Amino acid sequence: MTIERLQAHYGLTRTPFGRDLAPGMLHRHTAHAEAIARITWCVNERALGVITGEVGAGKTVAVRAALTGLDPTPHTTIYLGNPTIGARATHHAIVAALGGVPKPHMATLIPQAADALATEQAERGRTPVLVIDEAHLLDHAQLEGIRMLTNQDMDSRSPFACLLVGQPTLRRKIRLGVLAALDQRIALRYTLHPMTPPETAGYLKHHLALAGRTDTLFSDDATALIHQTSRGLPRAVNNLAIQALVAAFTADKAIVDESATRAAVAEVTSE
Ligand SMILES: Nc1ncnc2c1ncn2[C@@H]1O[C@H](COP(=O)(O)OP(=O)(O)O)[C@@H](O)[C@H]1O
Ligand SMILES: [Mg+2]
Repeated sequence: MTIERLQAHYGLTRTPFGRDLAPGMLHRHTAHAEAIARITWCVNERALGVITGEVGAGKTVAVRAALTGLDPTPHTTIYLGNPTIGARATHHAIVAALGGVPKPHMATLIPQAADALATEQAERGRTPVLVIDEAHLLDHAQLEGIRMLTNQDMDSRSPFACLLVGQPTLRRKIRLGVLAALDQRIALRYTLHPMTPPETAGYLKHHLALAGRTDTLFSDDATALIHQTSRGLPRAVNNLAIQALVAAFTADKAIVDESATRAAVAEVTSE
């Protein structure tokens, strides 16, 4: 089977359920739209926000969409996608992203990062937006380092916005004793929930429409089974939907029915 033959069979102009959608092509279900509105608020307030959600819930997609939507508000995004680099490397990356030459020792690096963030705002008029993705992987020293960056007197406004994005364990981690000070500074806590059954149905239709099919391609019971198995998490919906499409194609079916979807579920869940 080639993907070209599958596309021709179903009259698709491109492979559906692809990962790299432009921000304007995203599906605007409630959780996604809410997340964007809150992240935007957090950035405009230069506040500290914590966005959590299960794997594949659409956190990274929502953050990127929100940041894209900020233009032309002057801001400088510092996106750190892999916190396992450690505390020193995190602060190093912040200084380097703002055009500085990072100092070698942690004791001087933290104030240098704080200064660089303040200067970007005060002298260049740009709000730095520090995004730490997969933040549930941050170790204690890193969270402590972030706490120190946000450590300014209560009366003055923070010069930068900070978004910690991660899996649900992140919330528990931040609440732990020593980090209570960080916990108190969190202005936004948002959990990105999965899609509801009608939203999953709309999501499937949306992706298919982007690939050129606006009529029914997935039966109602196939759609229901995809929702049930994925629990409405977008990434899982994508994976199941493409497998179900392949199964229906292999069985030479005109639409993706429940039995094709069952075959896909068996395949995806046995991995
Ligand atoms: N609003 C959306 N519209 C279209 N696709 C989405 C949307 N949200 C998530 N996705 C899809 O789900 C996948 C997983 O989203 P992602 O943001 O990477 O999840 P997370 O960061 O929560 O693990 C993305 O690659 C994308 O294909
Ligand atoms: Mg992510």
